[in-house]
Amino acid sequence: MTAQFPVARPRRLRRTAPTRRMVAGTRLHPAELVLPMFVKEGITEPNPIGSMPGVFQHTRDSLRKAAHEAAEAGIGGLILFGIPEVKDGRGSAADDPEGIVQRAVADLVADVGDALVVMTDTCLDEFTDHGHCGILTPDGEVDNDATLERYAASAVAQARAGSQVIAPSGMMDGQVAAIRAALDGDGFEQIPIMAYSVKYASAFYGPFREAAECAPRFGDRSAYQQDAAGQVGEALREVRLDLDEGADIVMVKPALAYLDILRQVRDTVDVPVAAYQVSGEYAMVEAAAANGWVDRDRVIMESLVAIRRAGADMILTYWATEVAAKLR
Ligand code: PBG
Repeated sequence: MTAQFPVARPRRLRRTAPTRRMVAGTRLHPAELVLPMFVKEGITEPNPIGSMPGVFQHTRDSLRKAAHEAAEAGIGGLILFGIPEVKDGRGSAADDPEGIVQRAVADLVADVGDALVVMTDTCLDEFTDHGHCGILTPDGEVDNDATLERYAASAVAQARAGSQVIAPSGMMDGQVAAIRAALDGDGFEQIPIMAYSVKYASAFYGPFREAAECAPRFGDRSAYQQDAAGQVGEALREVRLDLDEGADIVMVKPALAYLDILRQVRDTVDVPVAAYQVSGEYAMVEAAAANGWVDRDRVIMESLVAIRRAGADMILTYWATEVAAKLR
């Protein structure tokens, strides 16, 4: 008898689809997907976002419809961004009880608040006329501590309107503590905080700035968001600080270019970790697919599996509804 070589045959478990399915190490479930949504004040028709085919700035009505579809597909949650009609230096619409986010979140909670988690992004960039994430000093720097008061007011306004999770994304030092204290002081000690803890100053946010109409009028966000080439320890420190300040969920953003960071965060913390597959990640795939250069559906699934495998418990993705429906 001839020797049986090779001894090990990893291909045995790859031969059939049922076998591959049975032995899979990474699975996606609709409940771990979160859909970011945009609602714009004062429009009567949904407005397609040019750089994000398939994504819209919604009216309050079309938002409700899209949220219903998302709930039907079984996604875990949605996160709302709002574009007000009037912007000013302090982002007044962010904590106006009649502001677009507050009104729209109340609609969503009434409609789908039992089926999924309705979250709100808490930041000022959609609301300020200069497009920065906070209040400016006379020299045009973002004033950390003055901004914290605005975030706290905005978080409370969102919670009063019904928001079920507050998600601060502005990268101000102490923002989680400021928001936690304000929520607790207003009777919202049960409302969780999902902190954008690790947020890089990323070119992958490009299309979002069209979607949320929040491109900075001058400069960029590199004085408050993290440097891609920065120390890995800086990311872990941001996470630690947010946990000390009371964060319930921590996030890494963007996702695909920061999978190493995501893995390290997952290995370090004992809370759920979210990853945000951001607008540029979406746009690149859609653009390549539109040209026939990649297989859209497979690239979407492969990227989500990669993010999951790197350690994300939850994934924010503009494909949430579509993917959830497919997974069902
Ligand atoms: C800030 C915020 C941004 C994103 C989510 N929250 C933009 C920024 O920091 O410039 C980007 C999301 C995306 O690109 O999909 N409120």
